[in-house]
Amino acid sequence: MNHEGRNYLIHNRMTTISNYKCIRICQNRTCRKQGAADVLAAFEALSIPGVKIMASGCLGQCGNGPMVLVLPDAVWYSGVLASSVPLIVAQHLLDGRKEGRSERGKE
Ligand code: FES
Repeated sequence: MNHEGRNYLIHNRMTTISNYKCIRICQNRTCRKQGAADVLAAFEALSIPGVKIMASGCLGQCGNGPMVLVLPDAVWYSGVLASSVPLIVAQHLLDGRKEGRSERGKE
């Protein structure tokens, strides 16, 4: 493989890594009581290319749930409603607005 081919592969790999996202949705006790299972199901139903959806253990923000953490952006969403998931995906992943927020009280 020549130098240009190697550079192309490295650039391609880095682009893949930098675009990779993981969304963790807490499924621990407190968040589950607040509807985290529905939130997880809503993320999974969207099946977003390049984004891994993961059920998570406690994210250390108990009582503010359901808690969602988007990595590698390290952006938090609290009090997430299943109905808010499409909007979070559209704004954060498609529009690049990485502003975590509380969804509580928007019902
Ligand atoms: S139970 Fe969800 S953050 Fe702790």
